[in-house]
Amino acid sequence: MEFQEVLQNRHAIRNFDSKEIPEETIREIIELAELAPSAGNIQAYTVVVVRSAGNRKKLHETVGQDPLMTAPVSFIVCGNGKESAAKYEDRGKNLYAVQDATIFAAYLQLVITSQGLASVWMGGFDEEALKKSFDLPEELRPICIIPMGYPAGEPRPRVRKSVNEVIYKTM
Ligand SMILES: Cc1cc2nc3c(=O)[nH]c(=O)nc-3n(C[C@H](O)[C@H](O)[C@H](O)COP(=O)(O)O)c2cc1C
Repeated sequence: MEFQEVLQNRHAIRNFDSKEIPEETIREIIELAELAPSAGNIQAYTVVVVRSAGNRKKLHETVGQDPLMTAPVSFIVCGNGKESAAKYEDRGKNLYAVQDATIFAAYLQLVITSQGLASVWMGGFDEEALKKSFDLPEELRPICIIPMGYPAGEPRPRVRKSVNEVIYKTM
């Protein structure tokens, strides 16, 4: 798929086919998304791959959003503040780890699209409840959840600001 097509084809999809995703595909997606830039190349992020029926149910109950019911795989993308703070102190903990994880997750979505799969970025959840449910250590901050699978739903119509609205000023 051409890069421009990947950008055009990535839509938030909230309903998925039950078809399984092979472990090898999941690993390949993560490996490609790891090409994302990160502060000092530290890659201060980590990902929980949620696949089993029991853990998918737990994730859905913890977060309460419907895409988690049908997605055969969900990624909980976490920033690792401790890892980035070791080099960048507070800025690493509070900013770079969040940015590293965010950029990685954005790449994940594009790689997923390029593989003919679909996903949705999910940011609406209770961080502490999620950490507790999935037994995540203090230093990990869940940044987003990316449910993924073969699409079973249509995307909503795409609306975007005009380029002029996005440019604050050209100097
Ligand atoms: C930071 C962020 C948080 C989001 N949180 C949610 C969410 O909790 N649930 C959801 O269904 N979609 C969520 N979305 C998806 C957006 O609604 C979606 O990306 C946006 O409407 C644009 O549509 P598109 O992705 O199809 O281009 C989130 C997206 C971002 C970037």
